[in-house]
Amino acid sequence: MDSPMNRQAPTVALQPAPRCTLVIFGATGDMTGRLLIPALYNLARFNLLNADFRVIGVGHRKLDDDEFRGGLKHSMEQVVASRGGPAAGFDAQAWDWLMGRTSFLMGDFEGEQTYAQLATMLAPEPGGVIFYFATAPTFFQSIARHLHDAGLLKQGHGRWRRVVIEKPFGRDLPSARELNKQLTRVVHENQIFRIDHFLGKETVQNILVSRFANSVFESNWNRLYIDHVQITAAEAIGVERRSQFYEQTGALRDMVPNHLFQLLAMVAMEPPNSFDADAVRTEKEKLLDAIRIQTPDEALQNSVRGQYRAGVVGGQSMRGYREEEGVAPDSRTETYVALKLGIDNWRWGGVPFYLRTGKALARRQTQIVIAFKDAGHALFRQSAQEKPPSNSLVLQIQPDEGLFFHMKAKVPGSKIRIAPVSMDFRYADHFMTGHSSGYETLIYDCMVGDATLFQRAADIELGWEAVMPFLQAWEDGGEIHPYRAGSQGPVQADVLLARDGRQWLPLE
Ligand code: BG6
Repeated sequence: MDSPMNRQAPTVALQPAPRCTLVIFGATGDMTGRLLIPALYNLARFNLLNADFRVIGVGHRKLDDDEFRGGLKHSMEQVVASRGGPAAGFDAQAWDWLMGRTSFLMGDFEGEQTYAQLATMLAPEPGGVIFYFATAPTFFQSIARHLHDAGLLKQGHGRWRRVVIEKPFGRDLPSARELNKQLTRVVHENQIFRIDHFLGKETVQNILVSRFANSVFESNWNRLYIDHVQITAAEAIGVERRSQFYEQTGALRDMVPNHLFQLLAMVAMEPPNSFDADAVRTEKEKLLDAIRIQTPDEALQNSVRGQYRAGVVGGQSMRGYREEEGVAPDSRTETYVALKLGIDNWRWGGVPFYLRTGKALARRQTQIVIAFKDAGHALFRQSAQEKPPSNSLVLQIQPDEGLFFHMKAKVPGSKIRIAPVSMDFRYADHFMTGHSSGYETLIYDCMVGDATLFQRAADIELGWEAVMPFLQAWEDGGEIHPYRAGSQGPVQADVLLARDGRQWLPLE
């Protein structure tokens, strides 16, 4: 799990990936330009791609190689601009190197002709091939079947073939099961790399290191010391240009069974026997399997849905969700969700896990809060004063990545007065971390065949199983509460915790 982007750590001496070709289906889409190509560029900058590496983009649009590369350049410029402009250090040599080995194949994902042409282009490839499905999910099964029928998934004699599948993987449990069934008919399970880009984030991988390399945390990491856990993935952006996708998806499907559950699994799983892919994934699966399946009534009680209205985010006014282009004026798609979950196992029995995610909130903040119980005996009573908050450990995933421990200390003076203080570790103070989306690590891992950070079929299905009661309960009713863009979300989400005598750590 060494990150290809962390060049600082002396123990990390990664080799360039083995020879391979990356075939991207959906090459003219947003995801390729905004995430995949910038990640490949980062890998190229750090000499982590093989000298014979090639990219073949497959897409519907009528483009020649130069036009395709021109479009990628345009997207890359936008990415660089969003990171503070060329001052952030654009490496033109690495970019030219990457573009010099990038070509385009215009083709219909459902037409045999595309795969015949691809077979010709791949014929001289003696190494590996990664087929990356960056398309709408409706194409996943069909692309896999065509690749199989064209003989493009055959391995042997040092040739490997892998398939990377993006989310959303299904839209509920039955569709995810069906997709897994259809895919594994034509692609071997160990050739399938189901991606969740949260797992590529340094801070997400650091959860396991924090827990299992620091005895001070691990010994307290259970129901005896922990009162509850909060997992937040708040975004300041609205739906932007993705309303067509988002209208059909909503906050729960978009973020919970995948990204939030990956965070949940990392924070709550048992220690694996080793860091081998299978050992880690087995423990994660056991944890997901222990999420209590709620009845529809419980699901309604334990969830809050919201939808943003017009407001101001970061000083900029933002229109309401229903005013976004492509959104129905009476849309009932949730842009915010908060859930209360329980985990039925020895370690976590009785400890609530509160999850929330939403768009157009006060700020971007992805974090896990481990809220510890109060000391057994209240020796220092705060008679007239307000009671300081209990100890908590904040695993800050992004931005301002780090680990913050909130504790109590005596205020200097003759009387005993207690005030909240904090011990902070910030990644940026200790390591030279570059701009990385998480895709760098995951693409590199796929090239070297390390599946630790990818999901098996069972992970995906267990995630859907745990959210099905909410989807079902909402089909029959339940309110969608409006919240102002730029706020903390609907007040009902505060009530969800207040009812248990708890409160969210504010987004600030
Ligand atoms: C994607 C969701 O998977 O993750 C988006 O589809 C969301 O809606 C994004 O914005 C969040 O990822 P990150 O890395 O920006 O936190």
